[in-house]
Amino acid sequence: MQHFLSLLLAVSLLTTTYAATADEWRKRSIYQIITDRYALPDGADLTACDPAKQAFCGGTWNTIKNNLDYIQDAGFTAIWISPVSQNYEGPRTPYGDPYHGYWISDASKLNSRFGTADDLKALSDELHARGMFLMVDVVVNNVMALDTDPDLSTYMFQDKSQYHPYCPIQWGNTTSEQNCWLGDTKVTLPDVNTQDPTVVTAYTAWIKALVQQFNIDGLRIDAAKHVNMDFWPKFCEAAGVYCIGEVFDADAGEALQWQGKQALDAILNYPMYNALVQAFTIPGPQNMSAVTDMIAQIKQKSSDPTLLGNFLEDQDVPRWASLSVDPQSLWNAMIFNFMSDGIPIVYYGQEQGFNGNADPMNREPLWPSHYANTTTLQLVTKLNTLRNFLINSTEDWVTTQVQVLSQTDDGIAFMKGDVITVLTNIGSPPQNVSISAHTPYDNSVSTTDILTCRQYAVGSNGSIEVEYSKGGVPVILVPDTKLDNSGLCGHVQASVVSQKGAQGNVNGDANGALSTTPLAFAVGLVTFAAALLTAAL
Ligand SMILES: *[C@@H]1O[C@H](CO)[C@@H](O)[C@H](O)[C@H]1NC(C)=O
Ligand SMILES: *[C@@H]1O[C@H](CO)[C@@H](O)[C@H](O)[C@H]1NC(C)=O
Ligand SMILES: *[C@@H]1O[C@H](CO)[C@@H](O)[C@H](O)[C@H]1NC(C)=O
Ligand SMILES: *[C@@H]1O[C@H](CO)[C@@H](O)[C@H](O)[C@H]1NC(C)=O
Ligand SMILES: *[C@@H]1O[C@H](CO)[C@@H](O)[C@H](O)[C@H]1NC(C)=O
Ligand SMILES: *[C@@H]1O[C@H](CO)[C@@H](O)[C@H](O)[C@H]1NC(C)=O
Repeated sequence: MQHFLSLLLAVSLLTTTYAATADEWRKRSIYQIITDRYALPDGADLTACDPAKQAFCGGTWNTIKNNLDYIQDAGFTAIWISPVSQNYEGPRTPYGDPYHGYWISDASKLNSRFGTADDLKALSDELHARGMFLMVDVVVNNVMALDTDPDLSTYMFQDKSQYHPYCPIQWGNTTSEQNCWLGDTKVTLPDVNTQDPTVVTAYTAWIKALVQQFNIDGLRIDAAKHVNMDFWPKFCEAAGVYCIGEVFDADAGEALQWQGKQALDAILNYPMYNALVQAFTIPGPQNMSAVTDMIAQIKQKSSDPTLLGNFLEDQDVPRWASLSVDPQSLWNAMIFNFMSDGIPIVYYGQEQGFNGNADPMNREPLWPSHYANTTTLQLVTKLNTLRNFLINSTEDWVTTQVQVLSQTDDGIAFMKGDVITVLTNIGSPPQNVSISAHTPYDNSVSTTDILTCRQYAVGSNGSIEVEYSKGGVPVILVPDTKLDNSGLCGHVQASVVSQKGAQGNVNGDANGALSTTPLAFAVGLVTFAAALLTAAL
């Protein structure tokens, strides 16, 4: 019996070496990369890439592999890269060249623009050597063509019956959204017939082999809601890894039906993204209730909120800084994604304050930033450090669901496990407002705001209050006793006697740090300082 058990254990250990489950991904933090835009080979012209031109700029799997320190040093534990399959290779189209990797021709071949099979394997191996995961974007719903009756001889599926016949999508009609063709008539996206058994067999065999050959840990699935839902359990079971789907829908009910045994492990959290835009962008409706309401809806409708993918930017939505110029708006909203339920995802360039609007302007090359150590990158690093520490040191932090403590027009206070987060949408200019909340903590509990390393005591009846008389800065409170060994605010090593209190502010002067951000200049902000947090009596 014992023999049998240890054999089982050995087998399951072997499996997890080559494929990561939803439960493992829950604990990760993802950096999203457009392969063509992350890094250039040595000696390349650093000034030649203009996103408006929709052309290849020169990033490859190799250049990602050679520049992983930037991502790992920021505390990320996984990357998500562009689709790896062969793309359209003909003349330039009205929408440029397929630098983004989404214009699939033959899914079963690799995209030679991004490197060789050995290069992709080397990237995967290097990530695993660093303890990081590889997520690959896959496009199953469609291929790409230039007309409605394409020559099929260069595709993985060469029989007309393996595609749905051409029809433009009638939005709001589910059958049409799933069977008609995305794209337009200049660049068509022929819809693969994922109900056809020969397609199902070929796709499942392909994904199984791809995942195994390159030790892929997880899949991001493009246009998932444009495929018949019952295709996904078969596909993802064959892949044997976590599958997170793009379901581009702000409605929680509509979107979350794609999460669960009947569909996918998880979806990218477009409903919460929309709520965060409603709540935090300046200018904007600044409707904080949208977030509270969405937390409640997700608790009710998600099969597991802690598996959803949280983001503020991606290749299809405008950069946050093009929606909202005040940097505090970005920082407060970003913290929501790390400190609430779900897997945080940062789209490359967000940490550099990029502000491209819609596609293609939101796909800027990263290298002109010189990979600078910006205020936002430092915040991301701190958030990853805290989140990784909480996951490592606490059995259930990541699976404990968020609870809203209070919410006003100006902000929200919530708790996940032991951590209390207070966020505001007032932006950088000071206002005579505050947010208070009752916590379960006894008034003897001392907490540290890990963003400023200031200590705060909890007031009577567990009350806390954050005042914004110096601007709308976020606050993340962790009980001091929970910070030992975290590497945060002077809590360096488990063996060192804890050094609470006297550590001061590792961020240094908030004025100095924030004034280095170009965005701060853009809005001509005057006063930045840590919020005063006082114990209410
Ligand atoms: C929905 O779309 C399908 C596929 O194009 C079509 O056959 C059907 O008539 C449409 N339904 C309605 C109500 O328009
Ligand atoms: C704010 O959001 C809530 C919840 O989504 C919604 O019910 C309400 O109508 C919104 N208020 C405004 C002014 O848009
Ligand atoms: C970025 O700057 C912060 C604050 O000065 C520093 O602690 C951190 O080590 C720097 N990170 C990198 C990658 O240089
Ligand atoms: C978490 O624990 C793992 C395994 O012990 C270790 O490799 C990793 O460095 C830890 N990460 C952090 C952020 O503490
Ligand atoms: C702030 O608001 C409170 C209550 O609305 C008021 O009593 C106080 O005088 C205000 N303080 C300032 C500096 O405006
Ligand atoms: C004490 O806190 C609880 C919530 O934790 C709240 O319901 C109650 O009203 C508070 N009592 C006082 C006196 O503030």
